[in-house]
Amino acid sequence: MYTNENLMEKIISLCKRRGFIFPGSEIYGGLANAWDYGPLGVEVKNNIKRMWWDRFVRRRSDIFGLDAALIMNPRVWEASGHLKEFSDPLTECRKCHERFRADQLEDAHACPACGGELTDPLQFNLMLKTYLGPAEEKANEVYFRPETAQGMFVNFKNMLDTMRPRLPFGIAQIGKAFRNEITPGNFIFRTREFEQMEIEYFIRPPKNNEWEEQFDMWRREMEQWIADLGVDASRVREVEIPDGERAHYSKRTIDFEYDFPFGRKELYGLAYRTDFDLKNHEGYSGENLKYRDPETLEEFWPHVIEPTWGVDRSVLVTLLEAYREDAEKKRVYLKLPPKLAPYQAAVFPLLSNKSALIEKAENIYKSLQSSSSKLHVAWDERGNVGKRYYAQDEIGTPWCVTIDFQTLEDDTVTVRDRDTAQQVRKSIAELDDYVKEMIGW
Ligand code: GAP
Repeated sequence: MYTNENLMEKIISLCKRRGFIFPGSEIYGGLANAWDYGPLGVEVKNNIKRMWWDRFVRRRSDIFGLDAALIMNPRVWEASGHLKEFSDPLTECRKCHERFRADQLEDAHACPACGGELTDPLQFNLMLKTYLGPAEEKANEVYFRPETAQGMFVNFKNMLDTMRPRLPFGIAQIGKAFRNEITPGNFIFRTREFEQMEIEYFIRPPKNNEWEEQFDMWRREMEQWIADLGVDASRVREVEIPDGERAHYSKRTIDFEYDFPFGRKELYGLAYRTDFDLKNHEGYSGENLKYRDPETLEEFWPHVIEPTWGVDRSVLVTLLEAYREDAEKKRVYLKLPPKLAPYQAAVFPLLSNKSALIEKAENIYKSLQSSSSKLHVAWDERGNVGKRYYAQDEIGTPWCVTIDFQTLEDDTVTVRDRDTAQQVRKSIAELDDYVKEMIGW
């Protein structure tokens, strides 16, 4: 477990102070559990999404990308079972009227806030409802999608017709999902609007449990992903979800749980959805959603393994794992994996009142920041160099490049490492390659 006290408070404060994540609608007093990603937060979030898309879509020939509409025909949610099944037990205190999720309470009868008596739990549907068009009537009711998955099932036929894939193959999507959570909270851990990265991986109807091989393949992929975010494996548990506690569509689920400072909670999930979704969508839509084997011409509904990742929870664990306090040097730094950091490097002139230094530094900054380079580079000329180092440490910039008087003579610069605070001298010509090599690009 974490030894750093008040870690969540420290992270939330750093996020606000340094432009990672702001409270949503702040000038109006905020909106409970809504958060806005600022300039640095959106970089980390986009880097995570890019790493995921690159790994699972662009570097694989068996997975196809999709970006489906957020609001879908409401019949989708009848077919998927969400209208009937996607609910949590809601209970309310008769005295203080606070509401809770009954399945998360230690005592199902006493209010944890005031000790008052709790009502019998009612199933509360988590889908967020709205109306399309000007009339607020039943016929115009629609839902914001509670998972990105259904966009992939309803486009299954389009994928077969356009991409002509052979089994096994997958559809991948990154996008927003909405849930009217009863107890949102813990910063960006549980919100009502959040983002998911999901894959529906279609396999042959299993004989002799061969789906378990594919399940294990995805389990290993997810373990590797978690390691690449910089997460310490000792803080992750893979938990088999027992019968009766899994989502309505799942025959097997493993939750990847993480030791958050507020307790051990779900980070990601892996489920075997069988042919539940395709079969139901065929039943409700009347469209043939079977796969036809090109060799045997046999038709069947493929089965599905679904690995799913929360984007916001990925950002949160990345920040929690990266946070460091260096008592000796009296500094805070974020030990982010360099390719996930908001900036890969920062460039400074040693002094901000020497035009020769500034001019030289600006040229180096422009060349590192150029479109042919994948690097995102910060510029800083405020205060003294020591303060600039600390400011970059706090936002996780792995390397700081300083242009000094020696640079004007021999075209070398100092490169300071965020984690060790050590400096090395490098020639300007090798700078771009040096940083990329250190990142592993
Ligand atoms: N399609 C399967 C599915 O949606 P889930 O376990 O309900 O499964 C997947 O959600 C992931 O989405 C979770 O593992 C978590 O990372 C993220 N997630 C779910 N609800 C969330 C919420 N209210 N706020 C932030 N992330 C959430």
